Amino acid sequence: MALKFSVALISSLFLLASIANIADSAIFDVTKSYGAKTNGDIAKALTDAWKDACAAEGSNTVVVPKGTYQLSKVTFPGPCNGPIGLQVSGTLVAPGNPGQLKDAWITFLRIDQFTLSGGGVLDGNGESTWKDHGCDKSGSCGTLPTSVRFDFLTNSVIQDITSLNSKNFHFNLLGCESLTMQRLTITAPETSPNTDGIHMGRSSGITITDVKIATGDDCISIGDGSENVTITKVTCGPGHGISIGSLGKYQNEEPVRGITVTDCTFLNTQNGVRIKTWPASPSSGIASNLHFESITMTNVQNPILIDQEYCPYGQCKAQVPSKIKISDVTFKDIKGTSAGPEAVKLACSKGVPCENVSLSGINLKSTTGEAQAVCRNVKPKFSGTNNPPPCK
Ligand SMILES: *[C@@H]1O[C@H](CO)[C@@H](O)[C@H](O)[C@H]1NC(C)=O
Ligand SMILES: *[C@@H]1O[C@H](CO)[C@@H](O)[C@H](O)[C@H]1NC(C)=O
Repeated sequence: MALKFSVALISSLFLLASIANIADSAIFDVTKSYGAKTNGDIAKALTDAWKDACAAEGSNTVVVPKGTYQLSKVTFPGPCNGPIGLQVSGTLVAPGNPGQLKDAWITFLRIDQFTLSGGGVLDGNGESTWKDHGCDKSGSCGTLPTSVRFDFLTNSVIQDITSLNSKNFHFNLLGCESLTMQRLTITAPETSPNTDGIHMGRSSGITITDVKIATGDDCISIGDGSENVTITKVTCGPGHGISIGSLGKYQNEEPVRGITVTDCTFLNTQNGVRIKTWPASPSSGIASNLHFESITMTNVQNPILIDQEYCPYGQCKAQVPSKIKISDVTFKDIKGTSAGPEAVKLACSKGVPCENVSLSGINLKSTTGEAQAVCRNVKPKFSGTNNPPPCK
């Protein structure tokens, strides 16, 4: 009797809870009460809908239905009163002129339990901007806006979205914790300058999975203060590969620790998996516990690369060694083809040599001759199959 009663009580509690849940989740469609129209600028409609959704109790979703809309600069601030989503099923197009966008086109700021989804497209409209800026030659694109910034998000998910032709980085993560990015498509031409797919810094507990990236710079770049990052099932190409760094350009950078890259594919990229640090770093720094496993390379210029002499456009004193200490690195089961002769290049710092670097199951053939492994200021442990043969 007592048991029956409590079962009944528990199930009615569950029922109540689920009714409450339904009652507390609402849709805020920008085309319904907020006046958004296809081809018009929907920044105001989106901002108004977000304000209402964010202030309302429960779990709410702002919806942009199918259709093409213009969108000027917009910021989605939290904290909100509960979990919140933005579901973009249409195409949002950025202004052609970067001037009014400042640092970013779309910014999500200080939100917990946020979900971006919907199968839509964020079109950064970068084509005309790339030509005007010529930063591919000078190396400074610093003034161009990122397409989407995720600043200080926690427990959030970014999924089923396409980012197209960003003016600068596609996605930038800063100060995020427990964030998953999945089923994304990131596209810009190979020649577009500084269009990193996903860049992160000062973030932890980041998972990136099932993402297709074809762009003009790093597919993914991992900046200082990144910890516990898991990257799986990413295809990269064209692009500059998946990079840890660059590190050591600025004062007092935070350590990078616990990065795992597995089951990824690189096609016609400049690099595969790379760790890059600047010479003459102003402070010391740390990059440790970095693992790269089960990776396929096709026609990749530098499939496995540690480059502590990273100094593009002659911006640094190349002869002063980097002060970033790299340790506990594994490269395992990495196979395919190298477009250049140096299939494995570990160029570590003379000042702080790399420690505890191991390679196993490497099988990389060069399409231009005999593949080789080059090592400087590191004594890597080689085991299992190793083609190219271990460096001395
Ligand atoms: C990273 O993971 C390790 C091991 O699970 C944990 O001890 C550490 O606190 C995590 N770091 C951050 C910043 O969450
Ligand atoms: C070397 O690195 C591996 C993998 O990160 C780690 O498990 C091991 O403890 C390290 N060994 C030493 C001697 O630090």
